[in-house]
Amino acid sequence: MAGDVTRATASASGPSTTLIYDDWYPAVRASEISGKTLAKAMLLGIPLVVGRTAAGRYFAMRDACPHRGIPLSYGWFDGEQVTCKYHGWAFEPVSGQCQEIPSLTSRDKLDPCRIYANAFPCEERDGHVWVYVPQSGRGRISGRDDLPSVPEVPKFSRRFRSAYLTADLPCNIDHGIIGLMDPAHGPFVHQSWWWRSRASIHEKEKHFEPIQQGFRMSAHQPSANSAPYKLLGVYGQAITTTIDFVLPNRRYEIIRAGEKWFASLTTVTPTVENNCRIDVCAAWNVFMNVPFLTSIAKFFGRRFVEQDQLTMIQQAEGLKYNPSLMLIDDADRPAKWYFELKQARLESQATGQPMRHPMDGPVTLRWRS
Ligand code: FES
Ligand SMILES: [Fe+2]
Repeated sequence: MAGDVTRATASASGPSTTLIYDDWYPAVRASEISGKTLAKAMLLGIPLVVGRTAAGRYFAMRDACPHRGIPLSYGWFDGEQVTCKYHGWAFEPVSGQCQEIPSLTSRDKLDPCRIYANAFPCEERDGHVWVYVPQSGRGRISGRDDLPSVPEVPKFSRRFRSAYLTADLPCNIDHGIIGLMDPAHGPFVHQSWWWRSRASIHEKEKHFEPIQQGFRMSAHQPSANSAPYKLLGVYGQAITTTIDFVLPNRRYEIIRAGEKWFASLTTVTPTVENNCRIDVCAAWNVFMNVPFLTSIAKFFGRRFVEQDQLTMIQQAEGLKYNPSLMLIDDADRPAKWYFELKQARLESQATGQPMRHPMDGPVTLRWRS
C-alpha cells in the first residue's frame, strides 16, 4: 500500500513558491550514515552529500566539486577527507577546505587551502542530521555563534521512548505546511474505527497566542477521570496541551499531565521543486513499561501520515492546473497566519529590520471538527 503511494508521488506537481533560507532543516536520518558511507540528500533544491568524520562530526557539503562540478558523492571518503573522483582534490568535509590538489607541482603558486567546497553547518538531534541552509551568496559560515539553536523534540524526563516517521509529499512547502496545521480535515481524512468517525464532529473553541516566529494553541483541560486517562496513568491529573507552529516549518505538540508527557516535532521540508517531506519525531514517558508500545505507536502514526500523504497526492492532481483557492475563517485562520508570518520573515530578511509579528495578541477561534 505504501508502495502505491510513493509511485504516485513522482508524477504530480503544483506551482512553486518562495523558500525560507538562513535556518535549520532536517536532511537525512543519522542511521543512514555509518562508518565511511556517504548519504545523499536534497534540501531546498540543493543536492547534499552528508557523512560523519572518524572524530564523530557530522558534515554536509554541496554535492558538487568546486573544480568541475561532479558530485563529490562519487568520490571517496576515508573518515577524514572527501576526495573527488575526477582529479583527486581532497577536502576536509566539515569546513569544506581543500587540502590537496594532486596535479600541482613545486613550481605552482596556487595554495589549495584557499579553496573551499561549499560546506554547511550540520548537527545531529533526535536522530536527524540537521543542516543550516544559508541564503545563497551569504558567504562561508565559519563560527556557529550567530546561528539559531538546532530544533529538537522537547523532553521532560531522562527516560523516554521515541519513534520516527517520514513521508514524501508531492506539493510545494506552503501546501505541505497548511496541511500540517489544518484543523478541519481530521474527521474526513483521518476517519477510522480506532480514531474517530465523521459523526463525532462538534464545535471547538481554541485559544491562540503569538510566540516568537509563530503562534501557540493552548488548552488546559480539567482532570479527566475517564478510562483512557486511567490507562495513560494520569488518572485525576490536569492535562495541558500546547501546539506551537514556528517558522519556517515546525509544529511542536506537547501534552503533559503531572510527571507524564508526550511530545512531538513535525517538520515539512522542501526537497526538490514542488516536493516536500514530512518528518515526525515523537518522544514520551507514558507506558514506559509496556512492551511493543513503540511498534504500536509507529503503526498508528504511519496510518495517520499515509492518510495525509494520499490526500496531498490527490490534491496535487488539482493544483497542477493552478485553480484559484480560498482560505476561510475561522478554520483556515492558522493558514493565514502562516502566510503573514512567512511574508514578515522574508521582508525582515530583505530589509534587515526586526521581524514584525502579524498577530497583536491572543485570539480565540471556533470551528467544527
Ligand atoms: S572535478 Fe573534482 S577535482 Fe576536478
Ligand atoms: Fe492530517
